[in-house]
Amino acid sequence: MSNYEKPDFWSQKAQRESYPARSVYKLQEIDKKFSLLPKNQGQVGPNYRVLELGAAPGSWSLYVLRRFSGRGFLAACDISPLSRRYDGGLFDGGNFFFKRADIFTEETLSELAALGPFDLLLSDAAPSTSGGRLIDAARSLELAEAVLLYARAALKEGGGLCVKIFQGADTADFIKKLRPSFASLNTFKPEACRASSFETYIVGRGALITAG
Ligand SMILES: C[S@@+](CC[C@H](N)C(=O)[O-])C[C@H]1O[C@@H](n2cnc3c(N)ncnc32)[C@H](O)[C@@H]1O
Repeated sequence: MSNYEKPDFWSQKAQRESYPARSVYKLQEIDKKFSLLPKNQGQVGPNYRVLELGAAPGSWSLYVLRRFSGRGFLAACDISPLSRRYDGGLFDGGNFFFKRADIFTEETLSELAALGPFDLLLSDAAPSTSGGRLIDAARSLELAEAVLLYARAALKEGGGLCVKIFQGADTADFIKKLRPSFASLNTFKPEACRASSFETYIVGRGALITAG
């Protein structure tokens, strides 16, 4: 077994805390730093809505649903299925909808946008890595551009965005393009990211774009 495959600190913690993937700790760090989700469950009203793209195997979805405690609504999408190992029935709840589909298709965009408008758009979507940094960064940028279309179609005014991107030559231009659409925009690499990874997260708050 290579070092990369050995269960590490974050993977073991994820198992102990019943999450299917270590990536949950990236969202947890981002949430702590930027207060993405309402701080306590009482602040999650019935109309509070989150859209999540690239959701499988479902750690971020579980994090959001556990924070919701039955309130709010989460729509999630991925080309792969969610793991049912740890959800304890949360994925069967009335406040959760999962669409197994490609986020690049227009049909997916219109179906998910119709469930909004959303207070928060999360995307941990990532291409299968080829090992070639330039190719992976270009594919990740395509996904991030698609996420921006969802933000434009389905985010509430004042809403938040958290989107993963593999850093590449065009990242700065992408951030420049996003900047006028949010009152504040930051990039952040959580500690739970592998040291070797060139992923980072762009966090926008106070969306100045309105759905429609
Ligand atoms: C890093 S994983 C997400 C992990 C997830 N946040 C969690 O905590 O369980 C990235 C996901 O993006 C999904 N993805 C990549 N391209 C996609 C596309 N075009 N449409 C939908 N999902 C996509 C992959 O299938 C993969 O499940």
